[in-house]
Amino acid sequence: MAEQQQLPKAKAKVADIHTHMYPPEYVKVLESRNTIPLVRKFPTASDPRLVLLEAEVPLLESAQQDPSLLPGRPLTKHFSSLDQKIHFMDTHSIDISVISLANPWLDFLPSDQAAPSATSINSSFSSMCATHPGRLYFFAALPLTAPPSDLLASITSIASLPYCRGVILGTSGLGSGLDDPALLPIFTALAEANLPIFLHPHYGLPNSVFGPRSAAGEYGHVLPLALGFPMETTIAVARMFLAGVFDAVPKLSMILAHSGGTLPFLAGRIESCIVHDGALVKRMKEGGKRRSLWEVLRSQVYLDAVIYGEVGLKAAVEASGSSDRLMFGTDHPFFPPVGGEKGEEDGEWESVGLNVKAVVKAMGDGVEYEGVMGGMRSGF
Ligand code: URA
Ligand code: ZN
Repeated sequence: MAEQQQLPKAKAKVADIHTHMYPPEYVKVLESRNTIPLVRKFPTASDPRLVLLEAEVPLLESAQQDPSLLPGRPLTKHFSSLDQKIHFMDTHSIDISVISLANPWLDFLPSDQAAPSATSINSSFSSMCATHPGRLYFFAALPLTAPPSDLLASITSIASLPYCRGVILGTSGLGSGLDDPALLPIFTALAEANLPIFLHPHYGLPNSVFGPRSAAGEYGHVLPLALGFPMETTIAVARMFLAGVFDAVPKLSMILAHSGGTLPFLAGRIESCIVHDGALVKRMKEGGKRRSLWEVLRSQVYLDAVIYGEVGLKAAVEASGSSDRLMFGTDHPFFPPVGGEKGEEDGEWESVGLNVKAVVKAMGDGVEYEGVMGGMRSGF
């Protein structure tokens, strides 16, 4: 049995801002699909498999010949059961969860299906939150493939939902990434409505960078999840910064998944490359004084604390400017226990213990710890 870490008894409330669900109607869509993202049953597995990532496609294909090769991850009741979410929160002494649709959200839907799906999913999340007032809030999903007027209308409508605290967004935007000028009205509408963006990766890096042994399944999910995901976030935010999005929408506020990918570590290098590019500096100064990436990180960016290591957490505090800007998360229901014992998923999760342990090591168990765990945000 893996070593578990009890949360030190926090005086203030503990809030989990990185925790996902797929409402049942979303699972139905995945079950109907033949290309990723999809849900597929295998005779050799008790739970259906949830296959989401491009990096999982080679194994999905080999599973046609050899069904002992199971692609993706088991789609357990943790993904869509609210009772299970509450049980998980109680087991880990989590008072408040801000739930969000997991990747890849509505990115793959045809234009005419996106807005009705977003309405249905956001209303499911609203109803879930209403059954546990004060314990549940949510980040809404946006219908990014819908016509622009529907997308803007959806922002107006989620802004009036009482438990909505922001939106979850991937890095694809309208198809050309988050530095696309066509997104500026969307970012402006979100900022005006006081809805922060929880930025979460999904697409990672091209499979080819991980090599054939990774594609054959030899390294499991390590390279796409541990490296592809954080690099995707890093690149998306760097592109937004270089395009001047943060200056164009100064009220925009973002929470970056996985402690900002590698931004806390690489912000200095990004800055150095900018100042050594005269043309770029000139363009970035056009509106007046150029703000550095550090300044933007410390004023418009919050980071989650889902990095599982003391060094990463310390870098995240340093980059975001204060432990108040770092927010505890679990990434539930991803990273469940893998011991294989029946019912193990109903107990404490090693992934949570590992992360809490890292927070304690980086912050101590006093006021900074409480701040990261949610103390400052108990007024959700
Ligand atoms: N965590 C997530 O949020 N999504 C994944 O696909 C894998 C891990
Ligand atoms: Zn996540």
